[in-house]
Amino acid sequence: MNNIKNKFAIPLKIGSVELKSRVFQSPLSGVTDLVFRRLVRRYAPHSMMYTEMVSATEIHHLKELPKIMEIDPNEQPISIQLFDCRPDFIAEAAQKAVTEGAKTVDINMGCPVNKITKKGGGSSLLRQPEIAEQLVKEAVKAVDVPVTVKTRIGWDDAEITILDFAKRMEDAGASMITIHGRTRAQGYNGSARWEWIKKVKEVLDIPVIANGDIFSVESAIECLTQTEADGVMCSRGTLGYPFLVGEIEYFLQTGKKLQGQDVIARLECAKKHLKGLWEYKGQRGIYQARKHLSWYCTGFAGAAELRDQLFTIITVDDGYKLLDEAMGKIINCPD
Ligand SMILES: Cc1cc2nc3c(=O)[nH]c(=O)nc-3n(C[C@H](O)[C@H](O)[C@H](O)COP(=O)(O)O)c2cc1C
Repeated sequence: MNNIKNKFAIPLKIGSVELKSRVFQSPLSGVTDLVFRRLVRRYAPHSMMYTEMVSATEIHHLKELPKIMEIDPNEQPISIQLFDCRPDFIAEAAQKAVTEGAKTVDINMGCPVNKITKKGGGSSLLRQPEIAEQLVKEAVKAVDVPVTVKTRIGWDDAEITILDFAKRMEDAGASMITIHGRTRAQGYNGSARWEWIKKVKEVLDIPVIANGDIFSVESAIECLTQTEADGVMCSRGTLGYPFLVGEIEYFLQTGKKLQGQDVIARLECAKKHLKGLWEYKGQRGIYQARKHLSWYCTGFAGAAELRDQLFTIITVDDGYKLLDEAMGKIINCPD
């Protein structure tokens, strides 16, 4: 335990950028908007966050930048994540990302969704390493902040190409690589294969961040121990639990484990989340909040029923009423 703390309490250098924390909040499409990131930031003062992935083609064609690129000046350090297969568009989008305040620019080379891969973006770049190299090279030329890559271990079990691919990204100028230890074919199924992340760490000089199946402080420690990666990135473990990154950050800084948040704290956070989405996005925010609220509702009697009810809310008051009632029941009848 102490070894972990001593090694991971020290800052991490990503090219010219120095981070105080080695825990990362991953980009999550439909999740890591400004409202969610604010909740994470309350508990994780130093961790790097990411926007949801943004299409460089869309940035090229639209007059106004998409709202998902918006950054609060107080939320540094933050990276903007781009996806595309056009090096010229990626370069242009990278410049705009930096103007928006991105501390680093990340290129998505891991998204498994057909809509993205069919157009040559996301994980399909694992099969087009020459294009992936061009994306990195052009982005590096275009901006003076570090360019990073987030990818998977390969296309499928027959094509686990990450060792060669990661080296190519480093040689092309990437300043850090995050590896989700699954293949594209796995989607989000099965376990993340951290052993591949360890193998990459052995052959790269740039920082390697481990991603996949980090759901607790314990799993973060286990992953760091097994992979010897330079940091960890949390993803689905933060859905309905925006405290996770902060809990891991705190442990790596102090060697002490914070008590996990109880149901009441989680439901209070759900209320903040709902209000924040309403204030930031209006009615669309309420509809988006439904899924978030359902993620907060686990681990207590009546959670499944409450989840169903939360999927019908139209106003903030509807959500507050349901959540307050649930909290009342939990307080009066803890088990
Ligand atoms: C809802 C959802 C949205 C995601 N959106 C993105 C994204 O925009 N960019 C990205 O690089 N990865 C995205 N991912 C992948 C995660 O960042 C992460 O790599 C993956 O979930 C593995 O980590 P986990 O096993 O801890 O969840 C997404 C995953 C989920 C579940």
